[in-house]
Amino acid sequence: MSGGRGSSAGPGSNAGQTGDGPGSARETEAPRTGADRPKSGRTGAMGTPPRGRALITGASTGIGEEIARELARRGWSLVITARSEERLASLAAELRSEHGVQVGVIAGDLTQAGMPARLEEATEGSGVPIDLLVNNAGFGHYGEFLESDLDRELAMIQLNVTAVTELTKRFARPMAERGRGRILNVASTAAFQPGPLMSVYYATKAYVLSFSEALRQEFRAHGVTVTTLCPGPTSSEFQSRARMEQSPLFNRMSVPSSATVARYGVDATLAGRGIAVQGLMNRILATLSRFAPRSILPGIVRRIQEKRG
Ligand SMILES: NC(=O)c1ccc[n+]([C@@H]2O[C@H](COP(=O)([O-])OP(=O)(O)OC[C@H]3O[C@@H](n4cnc5c(N)ncnc54)[C@H](OP(=O)(O)O)[C@@H]3O)[C@@H](O)[C@H]2O)c1
Repeated sequence: MSGGRGSSAGPGSNAGQTGDGPGSARETEAPRTGADRPKSGRTGAMGTPPRGRALITGASTGIGEEIARELARRGWSLVITARSEERLASLAAELRSEHGVQVGVIAGDLTQAGMPARLEEATEGSGVPIDLLVNNAGFGHYGEFLESDLDRELAMIQLNVTAVTELTKRFARPMAERGRGRILNVASTAAFQPGPLMSVYYATKAYVLSFSEALRQEFRAHGVTVTTLCPGPTSSEFQSRARMEQSPLFNRMSVPSSATVARYGVDATLAGRGIAVQGLMNRILATLSRFAPRSILPGIVRRIQEKRG
C-alpha cells in the first residue's frame, strides 16, 4: 500500500482533515454510539443486523447516492466517496440518523492518481474491511470525436476505466484472501454496442462489461461475486454533465429514477447475479444488439443519439 496519510474511515478513527494536495480530502466517520446496529423498525427486513461494509464511488448524487440509501436501509455500513464533500457529509448525516449505520466520508477526485490508494489505505489498510465495492462514479461526453474535448475524454477514461480497474485490484485481493466479497460495477446499456457521438463513453462502458464478466469467472473460485449493472437512460445529473439535454434518449416518458435503478442493482449484487440490465425495454434492446449485424449498429445508435429540435 502506498500513500501514508494515516487516516481511517472506520471504527477507531476520528473526523479529521487530511491535507490539500491532489485528491485531498476530509475523512470523517460515524459516531460510534451503537452505530453498527440499525434502529429497529427503520431498516430492512425486521431490523436485521448489518450485512457488512460497502465502499461506494460517486455517492454524492444520482445512482450512487441512491445505492448508498438502499444499502443503508438494509443495514449496511458505508464508506462513501466523490468530489463534493458537502453533499457527502449531508448524505452521511441523513443515513446515520435514519438508519443508525456507520458512514465514513472520503472526498476526492478519482481521476487523480493516488486516490484509489488513499481509499484502500483509509479502509483495508486501517483495519476497516470492505465487503462490497461499488464502482459507480462515471460520466459521459456528447459530441463528434473530431470536435470533442480531448482532456475531458482522457479524464473520462481515467475515471470510467482506470479507477475502476485499480479499485477492483486493490479491493478484490483482500476479499479473495477472506474467501468472500462482492463487487458491483456500474456499466451501461451503452456497453452492448459502439456509440457514435459518444464514442469514448460507449467504449469505456464496453470495457467495464468485458472486464467484469471476465473477473466474475476468475473470482468464482475465491468466493467473490462480480455483478455488472447496466442502466439505460436514467434520471440523474448524468444528462446535463454529458451535455445531452436535447437527447431523445432522455426525453421519453419512461426514464426511470436513480432510486429505481439503484434498488435493482443492489438486489442483483446481493443475489450474486452477473449482468443486470435494468428495465424490460433495455433488456430487449441489449439482447437484439447481440444478434444485429455489427456493421449496421453504429448507424442505428447514431440516429437514436442525434439531438433534435
Ligand atoms: N444516468 C444515466 O442515464 C446512466 C445510464 C447508464 C449508466 N450510467 C452510469 O451510472 C453511473 C452513475 O451515473 P449517474 O447517472 O448517477 O450520474 P451523476 O448523477 O452525474 O453522478 C455521477 C457521480 O460520479 C461522481 N464523480 C464524477 N466525476 C468524479 C471524479 N472525477 N471523481 C470522483 N467522483 C466523480 C459524481 O460526484 P462529484 O461530482 O461530487 O465528484 C457523482 O457522485 C456512471 O458510471 C454512469 O456512467 C448512467
